[in-house]
Amino acid sequence: MRLSEDYKILLEEKDIPTSWYNIQADLPNPLSPPLNPATKKPAGPEDLAPLFPMDLIIQEVSTDRWIEIPEKVRELYRLWRPSPMYRAYNLEKELDTPAKIYYKYEGTSPAGSHKLNTSLPQAYYNKISGTKRLTTETGAGQWGTALSIACSFFDLECEVYMVRVSYDQKPYRRIFMETYGANVIPSPSSQTKSGREILEKDPSSPGTLGIAISEAVEIAASRSDTHYSLGSVLNHVMLHQTVIGLEAKKQMEKADAFPDVVIGCCGGGSNFSGIAFPFFTDILNGKKIELRAIEPTACPTLTRGKFAYDFGDTAKLTPMLKMYTLGHDFVPPGIHAGGLRYHGESPLLSQLYHDGYITARAYNQRDVFSSAVLFARTEAILPAPESAHAIHGAVEEALACKESGESKTILFNLSGHGHFDLSAYDNYLSGQLKDAPLSDELLEKSWSTLPEL
Ligand SMILES: Cc1ncc(COP(=O)(O)O)c(C=O)c1O
Repeated sequence: MRLSEDYKILLEEKDIPTSWYNIQADLPNPLSPPLNPATKKPAGPEDLAPLFPMDLIIQEVSTDRWIEIPEKVRELYRLWRPSPMYRAYNLEKELDTPAKIYYKYEGTSPAGSHKLNTSLPQAYYNKISGTKRLTTETGAGQWGTALSIACSFFDLECEVYMVRVSYDQKPYRRIFMETYGANVIPSPSSQTKSGREILEKDPSSPGTLGIAISEAVEIAASRSDTHYSLGSVLNHVMLHQTVIGLEAKKQMEKADAFPDVVIGCCGGGSNFSGIAFPFFTDILNGKKIELRAIEPTACPTLTRGKFAYDFGDTAKLTPMLKMYTLGHDFVPPGIHAGGLRYHGESPLLSQLYHDGYITARAYNQRDVFSSAVLFARTEAILPAPESAHAIHGAVEEALACKESGESKTILFNLSGHGHFDLSAYDNYLSGQLKDAPLSDELLEKSWSTLPEL
């Protein structure tokens, strides 16, 4: 059998990248700086220091192309990295497409998703700077799980504000986090001023990521032994996730293939950036590759958002970031891909999208679940609802190839498994899953809350 006919394209532990790729070194247009939420002036290290250790603040603004991965983090990456790449032969056959479909699978991580790629370095840099405790938010529970595992490795306390609706719907995720020693609190909670204000207005608020971020940031800012940790959006998170794309490039080379299209689902942008950014250098060198982000129609940040300065959270505590946003007050419909229900987007990804280097598409959740089930029945992996957006993107592209007769090479990132999302599958299989269309009026109303500068 030729290598290119293998189902699995595997690397060895020695192939784990030694450095992350920092796309800030290669940006055609520079990023607009984050702004202090009170003064609206560019935020300096002193504005970020109550929340993050200095190593991460430096990574946030660094323009060095390569940033070395600390030995301790590489050692822990070896628990599950390099992650496997698969050629989706069964799916290709089922679709009867001339396209070649490859996918990188991040669900083999102990956390079940790509999020451990950044929680480990974040916990590491906090530990060596003397932090005792980390706070964070989680939507569907994937990020909270990843941070709980990282904190248990580095002996840090971990406090997770979990969006209320997920806390109620996903008790197993909570127990998963608690097993690693995390304290999981449903958000909005009465523990913070931001939470109490929301509960006063709406005692049965289902919560949002924006509210949970406010609570976690508020606690971190008020305690000197505590820092905050974010699972997406920020530059240093995109940086850490590039291990995915750096490995994927080696794996494609091993398979004697190169992608025409690279696809990832998009919440705050980290798994998409993780697989796509390392291919940006090839684009700059003249290769024609489409980098395509996929989002839900219920939370269409790139496809229907505005490129503007906005807050990262509901209570306006975080620095203001220039990004694609639906407005910090936006409450997305309760779709099952909880990790894609964020109003904002990574500033790096936003800038590149704005400059035309990245494309985006939005899909309805019923179409997404139909591709998720097709994928499970052909490739056997049961995907997370978030990751299923990328699958649907790949399926759509493969069917377009069938129509046109092109045999494109498609690479997508399967960011996690869906073993804790079975109620969503149950909903779909029993015919109860609904799409959640978004009216222009709702978006207009939400944009009216964008800060004036
Ligand atoms: C499995 C999975 N994929 C994707 C995402 C979206 O986040 P991001 O855009 O940062 O990758 C999440 C977020 O929780 C997730 O859990």
